[in-house]
Amino acid sequence: MTSLIRPDGPAKLTGAAIYAADTQVPDVVHAALTTATIPFGQVASIDKSAALAAPGVLDVIDHTNVPQLPPLTSPPLGHSVIPLQTTQVHYDGQPVALVLASTLEQAQHAATLVSVSYSDVGTPLAFGQGAAVIPSGPAVYGPPVERTGDVDAGLARADKVVQATYTTSDRHHSPIEPSATIAWWDDDQLTVHSSVQSSSIAQGALAGLFQIPSEHVRVICPYVGGGFGAKGYVWPHLVLAAVAAKASGRAVKLVMTRAQMFSLSGHQPETSQTVTLGATADGKLTAIRHHSINAAARVDMYTEMTTGGSTWLYDSPAIDTELRVRQVDRPQPTPMRAPAEGPGLVALESAMDELAVELGIDPVELRVINEPPADPMTGKPFSARSLVQCLRQGAERFGWADRKPQMRDGNSLIGWGMAVSSMNGFRGSSSARVRVSSDGHVVVEAGMQEIGSGLPAMIQVIAAETLGCAPSDVEVRHGDTAFPPHMGTIGSMSSGSLSAAVQDAASSVMEKLQAQPGDSLAGLIDAAGLEFVESDGSWAPGAEGNEYSIRTYGAVFVEVRVDADLGLVRVPRIVGVYSAGRIINHLAARSQMTGGIIWGLGQALLEKSVLEPNLGRFLSRNLAGYVVPVNADVGDIDVTFIEEEDRIASPVGAKGIGELGATGVGPAIANAIHHATGRRIRSLPIRIHDLL
Ligand code: MOS
Repeated sequence: MTSLIRPDGPAKLTGAAIYAADTQVPDVVHAALTTATIPFGQVASIDKSAALAAPGVLDVIDHTNVPQLPPLTSPPLGHSVIPLQTTQVHYDGQPVALVLASTLEQAQHAATLVSVSYSDVGTPLAFGQGAAVIPSGPAVYGPPVERTGDVDAGLARADKVVQATYTTSDRHHSPIEPSATIAWWDDDQLTVHSSVQSSSIAQGALAGLFQIPSEHVRVICPYVGGGFGAKGYVWPHLVLAAVAAKASGRAVKLVMTRAQMFSLSGHQPETSQTVTLGATADGKLTAIRHHSINAAARVDMYTEMTTGGSTWLYDSPAIDTELRVRQVDRPQPTPMRAPAEGPGLVALESAMDELAVELGIDPVELRVINEPPADPMTGKPFSARSLVQCLRQGAERFGWADRKPQMRDGNSLIGWGMAVSSMNGFRGSSSARVRVSSDGHVVVEAGMQEIGSGLPAMIQVIAAETLGCAPSDVEVRHGDTAFPPHMGTIGSMSSGSLSAAVQDAASSVMEKLQAQPGDSLAGLIDAAGLEFVESDGSWAPGAEGNEYSIRTYGAVFVEVRVDADLGLVRVPRIVGVYSAGRIINHLAARSQMTGGIIWGLGQALLEKSVLEPNLGRFLSRNLAGYVVPVNADVGDIDVTFIEEEDRIASPVGAKGIGELGATGVGPAIANAIHHATGRRIRSLPIRIHDLL
């Protein structure tokens, strides 16, 4: 079992790691944004005179003097509104002017002096009032409606039917490093240092907007201080920094304020999901219906793909899933860890718990009874699935057999709950370059972003095992479009795809040297009179994967203690057991799952971005007002993996896990609270006042 300490750790801990805004660029000028204060409407006029007269100000760019850009869709843009191009305001917080000044303070001050007047200001629609529409545009991925069998017939012959509506809240990613960009032009060559999860996506979008070849755009981003989806697509800061650099002929630095991160880098939209389950008395599902609506901004129809798990988790002769959106007035949502199944399993796994209670069947057994032989929606075989082992092993580690109908310790109402975790197995193209020198030093170059998940250590493991060297011989360089491209550190796909690309490149080095396992590569290179041998490698998902249902799985067990008088919920222990293909680096994998579980704890008990309905504005736009779990909220977390390999998902047998851990935790906690208190709370987060 490999457990490798991350090579990027010392640089991060000592402050030597260079993040986007840390980059020292000579003669850089600073940008600050003036943003809209209306939910939607028009910019009637902008008075820039006071700002232009302020000390240090070089220019103020608005719709009257911005270079025109061609339209681009979302994605790759976070939303399809390109800043400053028109007078139309689509959401509160939309940039309406950009100030350039010699210092950050001068820019920020002058941005407050830009005077904007508005017309045609609209009255915002809130989530409960907007018109429901079935997405007509393409969904983010996957179909908006999936059906098999006859759900009404299945419900008619069921002995028990449960139906309930569950809601999840607007949530913000809040990475510690806000988005930031430094951009400059050399003739028609654009260079940007930017905090992004995919330099490839940023490169492609900028090339498209400025109508230059991709090779003319270089995006550099070795380290990302957290992303969680907020930096996956291209948001206004990147475009505006490049625009301002072009307009001014200077290097421009634009760092989002924490408040701007709440409207200019996406969020997870609130959802309302109705699940109907029918089952026979012995627990066999006869029907699953899962209909979901999420809040979408007016600008684009962002669809939260919540219903996937309902199509692949449980055996049922009839399944009906449907995704709809309500277009309302707010900034644009985007994928946020864990998207899709993150909010989606809150509904399905809470409903499964309700069904278990109705049937008088243990909730673990109910899942086992409904384990399908193949993907229930498509009939395709599973590439690898050890969900039942996860359930059994998790129950064992947790001590589930000792669960009693009522458990109490003094003033604490004790509840034990569980739920299933799962994520769709995204796969994307990736590439890498491996160079072995005659002194045995190995360099791997990959365009991927290190967002904290530990990819450099994973590359060391794969390169070392393929080349027959020590992981410490392998130096990993990353985060630059000058290196071979990676689709992005997004969608939990790097473990499968990037490791396959590294393995391909390293294997190709072995072939060039005609080396056998155990050979000294340095010796072979030296004997050949070479200084180094280098190969590029790549991997992309092939069509054969389409013949399989490729997902990841897990089972989460939690104990909650609810103060009987105060309603205060504590979560002293959580057990998670996962089935996600080969685990390349157990140390990093355990850290990922632990972080994901804590993220799920936030979803269950704390995180909610409150929208002011009359302004279409998120009220709390700082880390004091957006509450996430801190150490004192986190108890014992026990993470294990089922040993397996998924060679259909990836030639290295691995699948991504970055987001899997954040699924299932929310419903497991809600189910545990029901067990503790008898209260079924169907709206996350569950807070003290819900339990009083
Ligand atoms: Mo993830 S929401 O694709 O960073």
